[in-house]
Amino acid sequence: MDKIIVEGGHPLNGQVTISGAKNAVLPVLAATLLTQGKSEIQAVPGVRDVTTMVRLVQELGVKVDHFEGDRVVLDATGMNNPIAPYDLVSTMRASCLVLGPLLARLGEAKVSLPGGCAIGARPIDLHIKGLEALGAKIQLEEGYVHGTAKKLKGVRHTFDLVTVTGTMNVMMAATLAEGETVLSNAAREPEVSFLADVLNQSGAKIKGAGTDKIVIHGVTSLTPIECQILPDRIEAATYMIAAAIANGNVEVLNCTPGHMKPIIDKLRQAGVTVDTSENSVRVKGNGQLSPVDITTEPYPGFATDVQAQFMTLMTLAKGQSRITETVFENRFMHVAELKRMGADISIEGHTATVRGVEYLSGAPVMATDLRASACLVLAGLVAERDTVVSRVYHIDRGYQDMEKKLSQLGAAIRRVK
Ligand code: EPZ
Repeated sequence: MDKIIVEGGHPLNGQVTISGAKNAVLPVLAATLLTQGKSEIQAVPGVRDVTTMVRLVQELGVKVDHFEGDRVVLDATGMNNPIAPYDLVSTMRASCLVLGPLLARLGEAKVSLPGGCAIGARPIDLHIKGLEALGAKIQLEEGYVHGTAKKLKGVRHTFDLVTVTGTMNVMMAATLAEGETVLSNAAREPEVSFLADVLNQSGAKIKGAGTDKIVIHGVTSLTPIECQILPDRIEAATYMIAAAIANGNVEVLNCTPGHMKPIIDKLRQAGVTVDTSENSVRVKGNGQLSPVDITTEPYPGFATDVQAQFMTLMTLAKGQSRITETVFENRFMHVAELKRMGADISIEGHTATVRGVEYLSGAPVMATDLRASACLVLAGLVAERDTVVSRVYHIDRGYQDMEKKLSQLGAAIRRVK
């Protein structure tokens, strides 16, 4: 298993370019199942989850003509297999995104239930409720979600909880349902709006994506997808925080400041200089960090996927900050690892209280999920001596070339087998 070794104390300077958003390309790959003909997706990030999703749609009968660099060309005309096997789905929860498209296109879906993961049980009960509302008959059998649907019918449906992939799944299924579907309490993430725009370019009739009420008029078929994946706002936030922690002066290129308002506001409150332009952000750390409280919320609130990274920043602030996680029930796995590096953090229910310390000390640490692993690398950037982060396959799932991008900014970071 690879490890990443970071030697602390090197300020970051220069430019870093953000890759396409993992959480946008996964639903778009699932959406190709709804279409007939050759689709082309550009600005695809080179991350493990994308490879997994391409393999999954291939398993379902999609022909992949090109998958290299940041471009995928695939054709779902002959797609005929409704079964998404356990060995693929179990490695990536987002595989559940094929449920809605399979039901809409083939009238059947048999998708292994995603395993839980480090940050919580992460059920898909809200996906299932939404698809049943559209008329699908869904059974849980032998660890599989098995759904059938002669013809999906439009419905008015309200999600009990805001769910990003749940909204995407039901929205995709509704594009080919009969009649009108109205989804209330829908997720408002930019990746939801992006998916709706891509589907509309293929002939779907979706209105209101990006608000909590999405209206979809069913159509009979969709033409192939042509799109360029939008920049990854979580990757961008990660490098902005890296620059802030490492007292750097970094320009983050190919990002959308409008998708990161809460993070930019909180960095400014912490005393970090953040200047934005249309598609880039310049971040300057100045060694003095003020404590800031954050509470994670669905978009447009402070993103849960940036909580761990921001916590690392707060471990060095002058004072006490409180970090409340409201989206996932167990997303403080990184706290124990940060404490092993000398951070002073205590947890009460869903709130972590961080008391700033003078410095962090390098240590062997272990990642538990994608963003926790990123937060440990960020801690290593400023910790004394070396930090050895193991289980870096988490990083490879969602960050393209992290050590290369950080090295180019001046970090002393290397991967060892
Ligand atoms: C998406 O996950 C993202 N993944 C996650 O990013 C992100 O953390 C999350 O949204 C929240 O923003 C992708 O887009 C591929 P949810 P998703 O459904 O859709 C509960 C990363 O780091 N829930 O919005 O799975 C759930 O347990 C990943 O890139 C149910 O109870 O998240 C959670 O507590 C991590 N039943 C809350 O809702 C359901 O049927 C929000 O989950 C669905 C969700």
